[in-house]
Amino acid sequence: MAATHLQLHLAAPLKPRIHLHKAKTFATINPTKFPTVRCSAAAATPTKRSYNITLLPGDGIGPEIISISKDVLQLAASLEGIEIKYQEMPVGGSAFDLAGVPLPEETLAAAKQSDAVLLGAIGGYKWDKLEKKLKPETGLLQLRAGLDVFANLRPATVLPQLIDCTTLKREVAEGVDLMVVRELTAGIYFGEPRGFGVNEKGEEIGFNTEVYSVSQIDRIARVAFETARKRRGKLCSVDKANVLEASMLWRKRVTDMAADYPDVELSHMYIDNAAMQLIRDPKQFDTILTNNIFGDILSDEASMISGSIGMLPSASIGQSGPGLFEPIHGSAPDIAGQDKANPLATILSAAMLLRYGLGESKAAERIEAAVMETLNRGFRTGDIYSAGNKLVGCNEMGEQVMKSVDSPIPAAV
Ligand SMILES: NC(=O)c1ccc[n+]([C@@H]2O[C@H](COP(=O)([O-])OP(=O)(O)OC[C@H]3O[C@@H](n4cnc5c(N)ncnc54)[C@H](O)[C@@H]3O)[C@@H](O)[C@H]2O)c1
Repeated sequence: MAATHLQLHLAAPLKPRIHLHKAKTFATINPTKFPTVRCSAAAATPTKRSYNITLLPGDGIGPEIISISKDVLQLAASLEGIEIKYQEMPVGGSAFDLAGVPLPEETLAAAKQSDAVLLGAIGGYKWDKLEKKLKPETGLLQLRAGLDVFANLRPATVLPQLIDCTTLKREVAEGVDLMVVRELTAGIYFGEPRGFGVNEKGEEIGFNTEVYSVSQIDRIARVAFETARKRRGKLCSVDKANVLEASMLWRKRVTDMAADYPDVELSHMYIDNAAMQLIRDPKQFDTILTNNIFGDILSDEASMISGSIGMLPSASIGQSGPGLFEPIHGSAPDIAGQDKANPLATILSAAMLLRYGLGESKAAERIEAAVMETLNRGFRTGDIYSAGNKLVGCNEMGEQVMKSVDSPIPAAV
């Protein structure tokens, strides 16, 4: 039953129905009931069985979780007769150490030429004092912008096996199944002007710009409406339209677009209220549409409802080119190199890569079912441990998932 649960949430059949853009090939992106968005050379029904994947381990726990996730990905793919060639490239602080920049040209070029990209995480204390353009985080933003992956899909589901890990009351968390559709390549993280200066009183200031164009709003809103339509038909657009002009335009465009989706129930919520409602009654949400910064914060908050940030995968998808698949957590420098990281968010990101990046849903199902089986067998890393389970490290967790990948998928899944 538990395996079926994940299946329901992360393994919808591929139905290339809605073409958001003029494209020859498509891949579905909604784990539950998904719209179709082109995201790579791969198709919903795969036309080729040989792919190039760029691996970007990054910093901190990144190399540990990518290494084990690659093994899981490779095993699932080979069992389905899929050939994958991997190219590992530096990004973030480790790229700075090697090449003096957080996103070397060669890394972006390799990512663009591949069928999909699997990223670990970037950042760490060592690079915190670098000037902004050299920081690992800048490399990540450049990567997202370079691939133009504007739609970031972050599912947050409470798995029955991990109900004890949520910080909320059981009855509040049980059954939560929501999707944050976050705009990823615009807004305040990218807006100009930005910088430091001095105000009229001679005081030092730092400033950023929250800016959205109509086309930037429309394309992410469309993904969100399509996503909601394929889920439970409820879309909540989160903004700060009582204060911010960029949010006022956002709300107007989203409201106008609702006419194209009479089957989707649209609501609007201010970000401060949404942050509160997500804790008070998370089950009220189905699909949440929001901008870059609000989505960053809300999806981390949502991860706590699920139990651990170490459990949540994400897919970032554009109109063309490869998708970027990564856990939502960071490089966790506090536990890096200690074999304590939970690899499941990255392993599940690899499953999303197979399904939504390559259109290889059977291999994705193998991984998702294996994760569920591993949890059913009681294996837990520290972040999701509760009494009565078996505490394991990152490697052992990965090895247990591999064991389950190798076993046949139960007929019920
Ligand atoms: N996408 C990314 O690469 C990304 C995202 C967020 C933060 N960062 C960077 O990561 C660094 C650390 O940031 P942070 O501490 O705010 O966030 P974080 O997500 O790295 O860590 C937050 C907390 O969650 C824990 N955690 C995270 N992932 C885990 C996992 N897989 N298993 C078990 N525990 C896990 C950490 O140990 C830490 O206690 C910073 O340099 C930040 O800029 C990178």
